[in-house]
Amino acid sequence: MKVPIPNLADQTRGDFPLFEEAFTNKKKLIYLDHAATSQKPYKVIKALSNYYSYNNANVHRGAHQLSAKATEDFETARHITSNFLNASTPKEIIFTRNATEAINLVANTWGDSQIEEKDEILISLMEHHSNIVPWQLLAKRTGCILRYVAITPNGELDIDDFREKLSNKTRLVSLVHISNSLGCCNPISEITELAHKNGSLVLIDACQSLAHQPVDVSTLNIDFLAGSSHKLCGPTGMGFLWGREKILEEIPPFLGGGEMIQDVFLDKAYWADLPHKFEAGTPAIGEAIGMGSALTYLKEIGLEKIYEWERLLTEYLLCNLEKINGLKILGPKFNENKDRGSLATFYLDDIHANDIAELLDTNGICIRSGHHCCQPLHRHYNLSGTARASLSFTTTFQEIDYFIDELQSTISFLRQNS
Ligand code: ALA
Repeated sequence: MKVPIPNLADQTRGDFPLFEEAFTNKKKLIYLDHAATSQKPYKVIKALSNYYSYNNANVHRGAHQLSAKATEDFETARHITSNFLNASTPKEIIFTRNATEAINLVANTWGDSQIEEKDEILISLMEHHSNIVPWQLLAKRTGCILRYVAITPNGELDIDDFREKLSNKTRLVSLVHISNSLGCCNPISEITELAHKNGSLVLIDACQSLAHQPVDVSTLNIDFLAGSSHKLCGPTGMGFLWGREKILEEIPPFLGGGEMIQDVFLDKAYWADLPHKFEAGTPAIGEAIGMGSALTYLKEIGLEKIYEWERLLTEYLLCNLEKINGLKILGPKFNENKDRGSLATFYLDDIHANDIAELLDTNGICIRSGHHCCQPLHRHYNLSGTARASLSFTTTFQEIDYFIDELQSTISFLRQNS
């Protein structure tokens, strides 16, 4: 494969301790599990270490200089996150533990205060459990109805079924932006237009898109977005909810405690202003600062450049996987005119995905196998599990070549020994 210029992997691999090691051949490591979690660059590790080493103090509390510095860095991370999404104001960024908590926040605050019996929440069959279970719990609490948009035979959201299921009872449409299993990229702007005309709000789970393409909440015109730091080269235990200021102002708090209050009396309490109303207790300060550093890093590389590089890699990966005898890929084929997540989920009728992943691991290749937290989707395909290779801007064509060669040998070996 003739590698196009600029080669983003060559430019960035040295930024990551793990890849630098693999690069210098200290150990063979082909990491193709970026959809599960991204690797962390030196910059992010340093930002975390700096906070814990030299700036560790609680935020929004102390009068001392260390607390002031921690507060400033923590709030800078909020500004960075706001700019990353092109939000109207940092007040719209609520720090959470992860995207799952962000979706639960909406289900528990907006959901509990706005949803009534027989109202409908529209999600899809391809959702991650984090965008299914919070709504199932809401349905149990309120008596609302959860409806699922179908998937087309080629593994994309069935937009006709979406139109059909969107009704005057639909209060919220909550969809994944890029599916972590199918790899399809859902047409969010089109969906939002239809939903808003219908008076329904739109939430997107952007975990698999934010690190791979520019995501602009004002262009998408959505109402809520959930994101996770660890998929964005940032630390774990950190995520965020973006929500429209007006909606966030109107809905009640999530958890109660310190930090989220204005005034507390024996019989009542008044809430702090946004975004603090939703951030009870001491937050993950170092992790927020680490996430800010990760988002700055991604911006410096350029999301457009990342998108272009990963498209080349994805086409190459899918094209080579398709050549393997008996291997089937979930989700849409690569199409020049459509966005597609930089991942490939695949299976073979005669070999278990876990056997493939375990054998590849013995040759230094990390892929994921299982149901990828999408059991309803796997049940829809009558599959107990699949294997998934997922890429990032640090991935090289040589890594894909090596993976394909090893995958072919693994399949032959397993077939001979079955
Ligand atoms: N949601 C993550 C994945 O797809 C964990 O692997």
